[in-house]
Amino acid sequence: MGERVVLITGGGQRLGAATATRLMDEGCYVLIHARSSTAEAQALLDDGERRLGRSCGSVVQADLADDEAVQRLIRDVLRHPMVQQHGLFGLIHNASFYSQSSFESTPLETYRNLTRLHMEAPYALTQGLLPVLEAGQGSVVAIVDTSWGRVWEGLAHYTSTKAGLRQLMLNLAGELAGRVRVNCLAPGAIMAADWEAEHFAKVLEKVPLGRSGNAEDIAAGVHFLLEHPTLSGHVLHVDGGWSTDNA
Ligand SMILES: NC(=O)c1ccc[n+]([C@@H]2O[C@H](COP(=O)([O-])OP(=O)(O)OC[C@H]3O[C@@H](n4cnc5c(N)ncnc54)[C@H](OP(=O)(O)O)[C@@H]3O)[C@@H](O)[C@H]2O)c1
Repeated sequence: MGERVVLITGGGQRLGAATATRLMDEGCYVLIHARSSTAEAQALLDDGERRLGRSCGSVVQADLADDEAVQRLIRDVLRHPMVQQHGLFGLIHNASFYSQSSFESTPLETYRNLTRLHMEAPYALTQGLLPVLEAGQGSVVAIVDTSWGRVWEGLAHYTSTKAGLRQLMLNLAGELAGRVRVNCLAPGAIMAADWEAEHFAKVLEKVPLGRSGNAEDIAAGVHFLLEHPTLSGHVLHVDGGWSTDNA
């Protein structure tokens, strides 16, 4: 097999950065997409190059809530010399925006932006990159979450668009079967947003294993799904058993 080239969206920081680093360490060439964290993404690649003594990837930039920017990103990836030569081994839909607000106070525009980010951009990217995914014997991994099938206060905009992403991926696993594998990874409470640190500690008390895992556990799960030759249509929960809690 040729070089394994992987595109990860929102890979400049936090869980995405850990995944990009893990994939570099596993020998992949990583196209790290960022919207604003381009310097952080480049620093990850520079660090990888220093540690591993080879070129580890490149940074691609786009606001995924902007249709034209998504189409430009697709063109940039299709024209990338590594993609032209090796195809795409992995496409990871990781970019997200997490905020909590009551249903009444959340403007429609916020919902539209999340629909674009969680559903429309993954749809367009998967569709536009399908030929190179097939050429690279590649697969798609979407990072969803554990909210499925439950009520979450102040998170209707976030949970419903993640549910859409999950269903989109499940459907594509069937429609693209034999061509491209498609899976999801559902992190539990892994890394708190700045505004939720206190709430996060309370959540962790309810996690059956006492820990949900860390960014490296998410990265390991993504790597597992990319490498597994027969898994498709699977949702891998990396959450310390949180999704088994019915409370
Ligand atoms: N953190 C957790 O514990 C947890 C739990 C459950 C699920 N998840 C899921 O796991 C994934 C990673 O989590 P995280 O907490 O690391 O994510 P995050 O920090 O909320 O977001 C990841 C990246 O998404 C990018 N992004 C946001 N809006 C964008 C836009 N309009 N266009 C393009 N990129 C945009 C940002 O890139 P820039 O910085 O470049 O702007 C950001 O760094 C997400 O899908 C999240 O929903 C996380």
